[in-house]
Amino acid sequence: MNYRTTKSGLKFSELGLGCMNLPTDYHEAQSILKQALDSEITYFDTADLYNKGDNEKLLGRFFKENGHRQDIVLGSKVGNEFSQQSDEVKWNPSREHILHGIKDSLHRLGTDYLDLYMLHGGTIEDNMEETLDAFNILKQDGLIRAYGISSIRPNVIREYLDHSDIDVIMMQFNLLDNRPEMLLDEIAARDVKVLARGPVMKGLLTDQSQSIIARKFEEGVFDYSKEELTQTLSNVDEPLTVSTMNYLLSQPVASIVAGASSVDQLTTNVQYYEQVDYHTHSRERFQNLQYEQHL
Ligand SMILES: NC(=O)c1ccc[n+]([C@@H]2O[C@H](COP(=O)([O-])OP(=O)(O)OC[C@H]3O[C@@H](n4cnc5c(N)ncnc54)[C@H](OP(=O)(O)O)[C@@H]3O)[C@@H](O)[C@H]2O)c1
Repeated sequence: MNYRTTKSGLKFSELGLGCMNLPTDYHEAQSILKQALDSEITYFDTADLYNKGDNEKLLGRFFKENGHRQDIVLGSKVGNEFSQQSDEVKWNPSREHILHGIKDSLHRLGTDYLDLYMLHGGTIEDNMEETLDAFNILKQDGLIRAYGISSIRPNVIREYLDHSDIDVIMMQFNLLDNRPEMLLDEIAARDVKVLARGPVMKGLLTDQSQSIIARKFEEGVFDYSKEELTQTLSNVDEPLTVSTMNYLLSQPVASIVAGASSVDQLTTNVQYYEQVDYHTHSRERFQNLQYEQHL
């Protein structure tokens, strides 16, 4: 496993684990998490919202039982107010909510600091000064080592690049969803790195692509019809997972945050990661997409 370091000194494994997709059964999830540690994955991505706090609790239990807290980079997210009583989720990037949210997350995760705390979305109308104030307080108090945002809105991303000290931006990024390309120069110029979520696009960019199209992408995706998707994906002459990983690791990406709901999926993804050669062989076979909203 190779590692990439951000400006605050967070050392990310090039392949990370997106924990949102873990089974809710602790014992099943535990096998995946153990496999991740055995594969030298150090980045574990969660959010307060995943399973209404239960995903954080599951990670807290795992790292309490298995140690390794100091060896990993633990990232969580804040900004969505949720309750156990209803499924309503309210966007809240206020200082008060963030300063309160960290306490709940740390408690669930059984730790006294987070390596990375990200704003879980955001709009251009938000009071960014207040949000940044909260993140800076948490950093000064040693409760977080670095902060970032998870966003696919160019206008929000540009505001944070210009006015904050973010380490990372989490964005959906893969060969099919190559929209982040239009922001990469600006991101790199600020010494910020991308956390690429959705790298295998829910399984489309794996050996299972044709069955995933039938199961999950009957209507196509982005500007691709189902037929175009089928054709594009069958025209790539190396394994699709290797291709998307090669593409991502040729960019200012700190970690490919791949989800896995079984040990098999994780093992396959790790095996493909081990074949990367950091060359973008297949990019020209895919359409050039652009963000069209929130510019
Ligand atoms: N806004 C945000 O901040 C945000 C949003 C979304 C995700 N995330 C983070 O990013 C992580 C990854 O996101 P994602 O789930 O959208 O992306 P992804 O990694 O592209 O997709 C993961 C899913 O793809 C399928 N898969 C993975 N490896 C496979 C393999 N080898 N063969 C066949 N299928 C495979 C599985 O689907 P099945 O489980 O259906 O089999 C798995 O759950 C999440 O866990 C979360 O931590 C953040």
